Amino acid sequence: MSALALLVLSAAAAAQSVPESARRVDCPPAGSDAAACRVDLSTYLGYRVFAQFCSRCHALDALGSSFAPNLVERIGSMDKSRFVFLMERGYAGSSPAMPVWGEDPYVSRYYEELWAYLSARASGKLLAGEPALAEPAAAGPASP
Ligand code: HEC
Repeated sequence: MSALALLVLSAAAAAQSVPESARRVDCPPAGSDAAACRVDLSTYLGYRVFAQFCSRCHALDALGSSFAPNLVERIGSMDKSRFVFLMERGYAGSSPAMPVWGEDPYVSRYYEELWAYLSARASGKLLAGEPALAEPAAAGPASP
């Protein structure tokens, strides 16, 4: 992993409790891929973690493969607590191939970010491809 990736990933610890309302996914109406989208840090990190640990089975952009489901279709019908439960415990439906992530420190601390990314994909708001990180919102006036 490059130093930049490590730096970006370690920033996620601080992003862990970002409220839903602070999420940002802005894609231009006529865009055809996510390169033109601007997303908040959680969503961006979710993309990166997904690309590194999940895409080998679920394919880039979560679109699914011959042996792992399309998560863009599946995430829409589950809530965050169900997602976290499945990640923690592993998922054994018809195939035993989905790993248990609860003891993998490189994945288990990023459930929030993975959820941000996958729910943005499932809602249709985030296009396929690597999104760009939005500039952090300008700080408001300092409170006295
Ligand atoms: C080694 C291949 C593999 C990897 C890596 C993998 N998955 Fe899976 N995943 C599967 C398979 C296969 C299933 C379907 C299992 C079944 O139907 O029994 C699945 C199922 C799921 C489901 C449940 C879908 C549903 O319909 O309920 C979720 C959510 C999920 N994976 C998320 C992830 C995330 C997030 C990652 C990365 C941290 C990941 N998976 C990495 C193979 C994988």
